[in-house]
Amino acid sequence: MGEPFASPRREGAPREILRAPGGRSLGAGWRRVPSDQRRAAAERLGRKATCGRFTSSEAAEPCLPHRSLGSLGWVGGGCASATCGRALASDNDMARPPRFPGYGAEADFYDLCWGPWTDDIEFFRKRLGRPGRLLDLMCGTGRVALAFARAGWTVDGVDRSVAMLRIARSKLKTFPVRARRRVRFHRGELTGFRLPFVFDAAVIALNSLPLILSRSERVQALRNVHRHLVRSGRLLVQIDTPRSYESARFGAPILNVFRLDQGRRWYVRSLVERFLRPDIVKGVTRHLIVDRSGRCLKQGTSETRTRVLPTAEVVRELREAGFSTTRLFGSYHGDRLKSDSGFAVIEAVA
Ligand SMILES: C[S@@+](CC[C@H](N)C(=O)[O-])C[C@H]1O[C@@H](n2cnc3c(N)ncnc32)[C@H](O)[C@@H]1O
Repeated sequence: MGEPFASPRREGAPREILRAPGGRSLGAGWRRVPSDQRRAAAERLGRKATCGRFTSSEAAEPCLPHRSLGSLGWVGGGCASATCGRALASDNDMARPPRFPGYGAEADFYDLCWGPWTDDIEFFRKRLGRPGRLLDLMCGTGRVALAFARAGWTVDGVDRSVAMLRIARSKLKTFPVRARRRVRFHRGELTGFRLPFVFDAAVIALNSLPLILSRSERVQALRNVHRHLVRSGRLLVQIDTPRSYESARFGAPILNVFRLDQGRRWYVRSLVERFLRPDIVKGVTRHLIVDRSGRCLKQGTSETRTRVLPTAEVVRELREAGFSTTRLFGSYHGDRLKSDSGFAVIEAVA
């Protein structure tokens, strides 16, 4: 973290993994950009402008079997090994992503990328203090909810996705019995869910609020959250700032490669974002699990649409919903939000 584009969506991958953020000039959209502009953009993005290969902190790692990956025809970017750097996809591939709706495939792969990531959770726990009753909104596979429950909180998670909730509930089965009793997951829309209790605190993690595209629905959702909090209860909302979407202007693929089972399997996650409108970004993520020889074990594609929201706009919406905003953070170390922060955590009081 701490880089100009330290967005949790892009930079939050577990550390032991070969991390290869995008920027390789393979996508057709990216290629059409003249080289001087491309270099300037790459510099703004904090990446090596002319680099033809991804960097890796583990140069000695075996090269991903790029030929096999390339023959599957849709993995954008380049090989994650510092000693290889060869292309994995054809030029046209990233320019015309297929249309796959929703979170279905995302659920199958979500925890491989985000499951072990706890930077945000540790920060939330510090901000929220002693254990009480927590509402984890847009809770997904229960990453935040389960960590808080382990730390002694009583947690209710709400999400609209059956597939994500199924995974969250299945993780509960391996949970210590006492902690298990403290967690419940509910299917619901943020705008309309109702629970018969009030909570000491609530979180909306990992840039989830902007998945609600309509302003009036976001305000309605935040009013609903407000209704579920005790007086002076705190809400923490994490959003990516408009700055973090710079790569979407060029359609540059953001590639993460995850080494699983001591290298017996690899998970390749390739995200291409593009502006549909100045304030809406479409993200297409391709997921691939391969074995050591490059044989595909599983693949999928998921697609999201996200509203690009200035932090000040979310603050206005929170106020409209009845919250008073107390603090804005630009890192998980508690630094103040700055103009170049890649994400914001907004702390609001009910
Ligand atoms: C990026 S995931 C975040 C998961 C989780 N908060 C985390 O930090 O790991 C976004 C989640 O929001 C859920 N979601 C999207 N729109 C929603 C809505 N209107 N109401 C409830 N959940 C929603 C999706 O199903 C998905 O699980």
